[in-house]
Amino acid sequence: MARTSRIKHYHAPGRVNLIGEHTDYNGGFVMPIAIAMGTDIRASEVKKPVLHLTSAQYPGEMIFPLEAIPSMKKTGAWVDYVLGVAKEVAALGVELRPMKLEVSSTVPTGSGLSSSAALEVSSALALLDGWELTKLDLAKLCQRAERNFVGMPCGIMDQYASVHGEEHKAILLDCRSNTHQLVPIPAGAEVVVSNTMVKHELGSSAYRERVAQCAEALSHFPGRQALRDVTLGELERAAAGIAEIPLARARHVILEDLRVENFLTAAQQGDLETMGRLMVESHRSLQHDYEVSCEELDSMVDAALTIEGVYGSRMTGGGFGGCTVSLVAPEAVERFEKELAAKYEAKHGLHPAIYRCTPSAGARRVA
Ligand code: GLA
Repeated sequence: MARTSRIKHYHAPGRVNLIGEHTDYNGGFVMPIAIAMGTDIRASEVKKPVLHLTSAQYPGEMIFPLEAIPSMKKTGAWVDYVLGVAKEVAALGVELRPMKLEVSSTVPTGSGLSSSAALEVSSALALLDGWELTKLDLAKLCQRAERNFVGMPCGIMDQYASVHGEEHKAILLDCRSNTHQLVPIPAGAEVVVSNTMVKHELGSSAYRERVAQCAEALSHFPGRQALRDVTLGELERAAAGIAEIPLARARHVILEDLRVENFLTAAQQGDLETMGRLMVESHRSLQHDYEVSCEELDSMVDAALTIEGVYGSRMTGGGFGGCTVSLVAPEAVERFEKELAAKYEAKHGLHPAIYRCTPSAGARRVA
């Protein structure tokens, strides 16, 4: 009797970061939520020894002989995220099996909502095919895929959030110990994400540059592992010897870690005003000290802050385009959507997509 090939279905969410930006690769703190938008993969067996990839978002079929994968070079296309994961899976000693993966994603690419992490994590679940890894090892495998194969020296936040997401909860992640605590979002506010609909090209080179500038600032503090270990007082005392740009980058990182801590306390106390104020401070710091914002993100945040019922707003993710995240009183959300869209469109001629995001469950096998 012919063996019927069963389709296995996996889902991994994107994420939006509430606060703690560009702190993960400095050993610091972040507070993302996993979102309902994500990547779905339907995996089925194939006869030939290949990995067969299709995407609902990109045309064409890509077929890679399994034996070629461990030594492949990146292609520059979306499949790199899958191939990078396949290489890391093979490096664990797990045999890659002949498979067709049909990929479909609802996370807008280039939006700062981690479409890449969602693709990596869903691919890892499919390619591991029953091999049990801890959640942390799964997130780390996907991070290695992005760093080693795609070539982006990212931190752990995106993959960690995609794997560990929980309904109704934000994730306060300590990026040194790689452990987290779940944080309820106080009633009385919704998380609203607004897409500038732009993505400036310099994003990945600027990211690399920021990583290097943080390392330069850290080199003034021998014996410290990461900027997370440097206090504001220490930075101020050493300031005269540090060049202006690395100094500003370090100031952002150190203050952003403190903001995450204060944001946590405010969230635990249901203090939405303070949470909102910290989000705005975070944005200003990313705008002026870290210099990863852009005109569109700044004017979207500025527009949000003029709307009644908005506690706070900031850019989210790596920057240079993508989305803002705002904390908005539930009864004000509809008005927020209309007014923000009108103001942004009047200025930039682009209609922003706006998403109400509820914290969602992490990556899983669906069927
Ligand atoms: C990208 C990276 C993350 C993190 C953010 C900025 O999303 O993948 O690791 O550094 O930028 O906070």
